[in-house]
This record gives sequence, C-alpha cells and structure tokens, in this order.
Amino acid sequence: MSPTYLSTTLAITVGAAAMFGCHEPSAPTPTDVSPATTAAESTAAKVFEERIAPIFKSPDPSSCTRCHLATVDIKQYILPSATDTFLALREQGLIDLDKPENSKILALINRGADDPKAAGLISAKRQKAEYEAFAAWIKACASDPTLRNVPKPEKIPALATKPVEVIRHARKDRILASFETNIWSLRFRCMNCHTEGTPQNDKLVKEYGERVAWFRKAGPEATMDYLFTSKLLDLDKPEKSLLLTKPLNEVKHGGGVKIVVGDQGYKAIRAWAEDVAAIKKGKYAAAADLPPKDVAPKHFGTEAWFRLNNTPAAWNGKLLQVDVYAWDAKTGAWEKDPIATSDRACGDKGWQHTVTLLAALGSDRAKSWAKGKPSLPAGKYLVKVFVDSANKAQKDWTARIGTEEFVGAAEFQGRWAEGYGSMTIVDATGIKK
Ligand code: HEC
Ligand code: HEC
Repeated sequence: MSPTYLSTTLAITVGAAAMFGCHEPSAPTPTDVSPATTAAESTAAKVFEERIAPIFKSPDPSSCTRCHLATVDIKQYILPSATDTFLALREQGLIDLDKPENSKILALINRGADDPKAAGLISAKRQKAEYEAFAAWIKACASDPTLRNVPKPEKIPALATKPVEVIRHARKDRILASFETNIWSLRFRCMNCHTEGTPQNDKLVKEYGERVAWFRKAGPEATMDYLFTSKLLDLDKPEKSLLLTKPLNEVKHGGGVKIVVGDQGYKAIRAWAEDVAAIKKGKYAAAADLPPKDVAPKHFGTEAWFRLNNTPAAWNGKLLQVDVYAWDAKTGAWEKDPIATSDRACGDKGWQHTVTLLAALGSDRAKSWAKGKPSLPAGKYLVKVFVDSANKAQKDWTARIGTEEFVGAAEFQGRWAEGYGSMTIVDATGIKK
C-alpha cells in the first residue's frame, strides 16, 4: 500500500467521523461496527488536536530542558500531522499499543517526575501536562483499530530527534560536572574578586554592582544557571565571550590581565564555552561531532599559593606550568599522576600562583575533596616545571605543554597553608633535569 493511499484512507475516515459529528468514544454495537471505529479514530484525532498540537506549537521550552540542555524537546517527537506523529512514534518503538501505559515515550517524559526537588517548578507542571496529554492520546490511538492496523509506510515520517550519544552528552548534569571542573575550580584563580559573599567581592559589588558577584554563593549549579542567562557567554562566537575577553583584558577588565591565551584558565573556559555553544546551537548532529570524552581528572580550586624563587631570566614572561607529585609512602615512590597543577606567565624575580588540585574521576580522593574542603597534607613533594619558551600555547590554545617544555624537577617539603601570605616556596636554582 502506498503512503498516498494510506493517508487518503485516513483522511476519508476522519472526514466521515466529522460528518457523524461524534467525537466521544462509544461502545461498539453488534449491529454496526464501523461508526464505532470512526468514533475511536476521531477521538485520537481530537485528543491530538486539543492536547498534542498545542505542545508542538508552544513557544515555551518543554519539560525536558530541566535535565537536557537544548538538545532534547518534546516537540521533536511531534509532527504537524497526527497520523505522521503516530507512525513515527510507532515505528521507533516509542509507543506500546497493547500496553499504552508502558510506552517508552511516556517513560522519557516522566523521568524524575517524583523528584521532590522539582515540586512546584513550572517544568514539573509542564511535565505533568505533557505526560497526561501523551498518555490520553496514545490510549486513544491504541483503541483505534484503523490506526493500529496502518501498515508500515515506505517512508517513515522522520522525527527531529538527535542520536542518543548527542542527547547523553548534552545532559545538564554532565555539563554541570564539566562546569565544576572547568570554571567553578577557577574562582580562586580569580582571587575571589567574583565570589559572592567574600570580603574581596563585597567591596567590588559596592563599586560595580551585583554583576561582579557571578560566582554564586549557592554553588556551581546556581552559577552555571546564572551564566546561561547572562551576557557573559557569546553563543555565536564563544571565543569572544566576556568570560574570556575580560580576564584576558582584551575588553578592559577591572581585575587586569588574569589569564593568557593557551594557559590552563583560558583552556578551561574556552573548552566549556565552545561545548555549551555547540550544544545550544544544535551543532552536534552525530556522535562523531562530539568533543573527545573527558578523561581529565577532576579539578579543585584552592587558596594555597605556590612560589618559585630566583627563576632564570630566560623564563621571564613565558608561560610556566608546575605539576606537583605526592610521595606515596606505601610504594616508596612518587605517585604516577600529579596531585596539583598551576600555570601563569613567569615574573622577573619569580613565579607564583594558587594551585589547582587534581583527582581521578570517581577516586576516593575526588570523593573526599568533593565533600569537604580540598587541601594537600604537609609533606614531601616533587615539582616538575615546564616553560613554554616557543609560545606554543599562545599560538594554539589546544596545544599541550609536555616533555618538550620540561625544564627540570625538584623535591621539596610542602606546607600548603592557605593565603597569599603563607606561600609554599621552592628555590628554582634547585630545579634540575
Ligand atoms: C529529571 C531529569 C530528566 C528529564 C526531565 C528528562 N530526561 Fe531524558 N534523560 C535523563 C537521564 C538521566 C538520561 C540518561 C539515562 C541513561 O543514560 O541511562 C536521559 C536520557 C534520555 C534519552 C536517551 C535515551 C535513554 O533512555 O538514555 C532520551 C531520548 C531522552 N532522555 C529524552 C527525554 C525527553 C524527550 C524528555 C522530555 C519530555 C526528557 N528526556 C526529560 C534525564 C531526564
Ligand atoms: C582583582 C580583582 C579581579 C580579579 C582577580 C578578576 N576580576 Fe574580573 N572583574 C573585576 C572587576 C572590578 C570587574 C568589573 C569591571 C569590569 O567590568 O571590568 C570585573 C569584571 C569581570 C567580568 C564582567 C562581569 C559583568 O557581568 O560585566 C568578567 C566576565 C570577569 N571579570 C571575569 C574574570 C575572570 C574569569 C577572572 C579570573 C580568571 C577574573 N575576572 C579575575 C575584578 C577582578
């Protein structure tokens, strides 16, 4: 049967139902079965018209956006025509005509509906309305023999949905995890000037207003939500986001130059901004378009300062990176992966910056730092120093600083007290290859 013939048949039946003027389901009578059939179908059509079509036409984001960032919307599961919508969902296995209440689309809509945190949110009300509309419509479709028996069309109407990998990547909880590692961990690099509720920030708020308090006291999620609604992210040109151009001092910045192109702070902000822009602009169409899976350790910002004294003149003005390794008393060796890192341009008498702590995703260390205040115990450490003499990072912000830039290492005792006045200091003359 050709699709044309198919839709004509449906159009005729719907037309007949309209002629009968009966829209409510009525029990089939033994003497006359056909009017009941048309009535059932007309019910499905009516439910679609009254409850599904308005969701499709609504300019509001659907309830899905509570957990999915832009990539998923219930509208992607609806087509202008009721029949096309039915066929598309049925052929994708999203509706269960024998047990309508078990339909996969209903499970997708209802995820997290019982989450007490969602209670009272507009999205929760929307979720309930979407669920009830789809439940009623699928039920009406299921009790409609004509619809049920429509054969598989030659060309299945296409939904505007994205591949599962893309949907998973754009989940809000994943973007938040990436935000915590990339941006939230930077707040001490930004010296608390932007951390709401700190004395540094209180002073600046008086002078510049609430806009400088963008690292929210309520935590990473509140901060991310604020950034999404602020003008600090440029989704068309992520590299021109004020989140980058201000600390670069490319746009005049009250805090002066706080990052340089290619340093760890720049890389973190840029990568996150690029990803969010690609998600929000719908640029990821297939799994292959996604950025490489993040295997980087979790980052934890601290107010512990680290200083290298007496740095050679040749390092002056160059981007200098330190990787700090902890001593593992059990194995009697340095740990394999750095426990802390930092980078910044080297000054003429030395180099100093706050350190960012690193812990493998899911490790005990990551868990305990996530719960309490991340800090390093006093003890024996090794610092490896890298100097980007060729300005590699500046030329290509994605370039990795590694063996080529390695200038030497030194063992030292770290106290890791917090605060500018209590730095852990290493004499750079002891740094040897
Ligand atoms: C309460 C949070 C939440 C809401 C609301 C939500 N989702 Fe999801 N969604 C998730 C999670 C979590 C996953 C990942 C499940 C997994 O990986 O096992 C997911 C995965 C998906 C997937 C990928 C397939 C799968 O099952 O993994 C699709 C498609 C999807 N959701 C569609 C939707 C649609 C459509 C809506 C809105 C009608 C929606 N979601 C609303 C949390 C949510
Ligand atoms: C010494 C204090 C100080 C430090 C450190 C600092 N800033 Fe700022 N920043 C300011 C001041 C003051 C303003 C307000 C004046 C202006 O817009 O330049 C500001 C403004 C901004 C704005 C614009 C906010 C808005 O809504 O208009 C952004 C974005 C920003 N800073 C990012 C950063 C980042 C990222 C860092 C760290 C990597 C940082 N700043 C470090 C003082 C600082």
